[in-house]
Amino acid sequence: MTTTIALVTGANKGIGFETARQLGARGATVLAGARDETRGRQAEKALRDGGAEARFVPLDVTDAKSAQAAADWIDREYGRLDILVNNAAIAVGGGAPSQTDLDAMREVYETNVFGVIAVTNAMLPLLRRAPAARIVNVSSEVGSITATTDPASPLGQMPASLAYPSSKSALNMITAMYAKELRDTPVKVNAANPGYTATDLNRHSGFRSAAEGAEASVYLATLGPDGPSGLLWGHLWTADGPAGAYGPLPW
Ligand SMILES: NC(=O)c1ccc[n+]([C@@H]2O[C@H](COP(=O)([O-])OP(=O)(O)OC[C@H]3O[C@@H](n4cnc5c(N)ncnc54)[C@H](OP(=O)(O)O)[C@@H]3O)[C@@H](O)[C@H]2O)c1
Repeated sequence: MTTTIALVTGANKGIGFETARQLGARGATVLAGARDETRGRQAEKALRDGGAEARFVPLDVTDAKSAQAAADWIDREYGRLDILVNNAAIAVGGGAPSQTDLDAMREVYETNVFGVIAVTNAMLPLLRRAPAARIVNVSSEVGSITATTDPASPLGQMPASLAYPSSKSALNMITAMYAKELRDTPVKVNAANPGYTATDLNRHSGFRSAAEGAEASVYLATLGPDGPSGLLWGHLWTADGPAGAYGPLPW
């Protein structure tokens, strides 16, 4: 049987590390993308110590040359890519929309939006060579315009801010557009909602573990041939709903 080759960006910690760990536990060769070599090598070692076949790949998603160098290396080593998890993101520049710092907003978009496009386009030739590739864009329920404008939703109760939530709304449309372009191919493209997860991104204020946060990405990365494409799918956070429910979310 051929091994599944999976690249996870921002795999050195948080939900990305857990996604790499869980894909490795399912037998995939996990390519752990990280922008910092020391952190990347530490993650590679931790994944290998846990029994995964893991390799560190230098990858700063804001640097198109870095994305292309990673793609060239994967091409030389494996000749194809079965799974791409666009997980890397930052959350800076919160605060009321009227107080938005445009430099912080640009920084967020460089990573969370333009970085995803750069990495996806660098990897697409390799993904097209795989028999049934899966692309997972790690998005968020805070990018759901439907939930944000619903006062009955816990998301509707969150303070208003622009940079991070709107970057995820953009990522949702980007997901839908790649799914549309690739509709007649075996490649499936979906957006994952990890749920509110305790990581460095939110100073560990989330109520889900990183292992739980990775579940939506792993599910979408391992969809069978009948699985959906062009969905936002993952943890469902409702005012009175069950705590651990999963399913499609409204855009
Ligand atoms: N935590 C939540 O509640 C939550 C909820 C919904 C969605 N998400 C999404 O889940 C994903 C993972 O977030 P997390 O909570 O695990 O955050 P995290 O612990 O802060 O991890 C973010 C990862 O992204 C990497 N990264 C940032 N900028 C990068 C760049 N330019 N190039 C390469 N890697 C870069 C970080 O690397 P460094 O260590 O080098 O900084 C780190 O590995 C993100 O897409 C986030 O938006 C999180």
